Amino acid sequence: MSKVSLRDIKIAYDDVGSGPPLVLLHGFPFNRSMWDEQREAFAEHHRIITPDLRGHGETDVAPTAATMAEMALDVAALLDKLDIERAVLAGLSMGGYVALAFCRLFPLRVRALVLADTRAQADTEEAKANRSAQAAQILREGMEAVAATILPKQLAPETIAKRPDVVRRVRAMVTGTRPEGAAAALEGMAQRQDQRSFLSRIIAPVLIIVGSEDTITPIADAELMHQEIGGSRLEVIGAAAHLSNLERPKEFNCALGKFLADLER
Ligand code: MLT
Repeated sequence: MSKVSLRDIKIAYDDVGSGPPLVLLHGFPFNRSMWDEQREAFAEHHRIITPDLRGHGETDVAPTAATMAEMALDVAALLDKLDIERAVLAGLSMGGYVALAFCRLFPLRVRALVLADTRAQADTEEAKANRSAQAAQILREGMEAVAATILPKQLAPETIAKRPDVVRRVRAMVTGTRPEGAAAALEGMAQRQDQRSFLSRIIAPVLIIVGSEDTITPIADAELMHQEIGGSRLEVIGAAAHLSNLERPKEFNCALGKFLADLER
């Protein structure tokens, strides 16, 4: 792990492998370790950059709302620091919101985009209110209090029944997140821009991945992005819910690997 002072915080990240750069952006409330299987699979032929987004993992919590645009600016500053002008950007869920914000701010820096278990729509008023209530609960009672409700939504019933290692790992990421960091990200996600009208303007090749049992960002959200983004590819991962890369790493890596190989042709 490396740490670097950028903008108003210290950002933790891993930078492994060599080849065309691939940046992997984690979801909420997780950290860069959610990409371990992808780092291992792709580092032989790619340079893999996995940051902890602000307020998560070993990256500092900033005193203000962690908006998707702030996180995208952090990623851009990290790429500057690492002398990377262009990269393939892959984000899962909140990481996908950040990837879309990055693509809007820096379209020419995006070699290709992978949007996994994410959506383009902004929050509804009801979703915003739920985020405020969850942030208040987290600050009052800690991450343990929400872990039990978060887990069954993130993972497919089959994963919960048959993969205790994955359940333990996801739980550890949730409970290891600092309450202030989680609350700031919840506020940031509630403030995020609706990206639907931007989708048709994306010029980079796009792969959309979704777990067949994802109820947080369901297949309909992935199909909407697929319809709007010309030439995009859609892959549905069976027997996975919201954390398709962790629940079905082999299938996820196969979809990502094919997409990355086609970029090099
Ligand atoms: C995530 O996995 O990043 C979150 O579920 C995204 C969200 O709450 O919208």
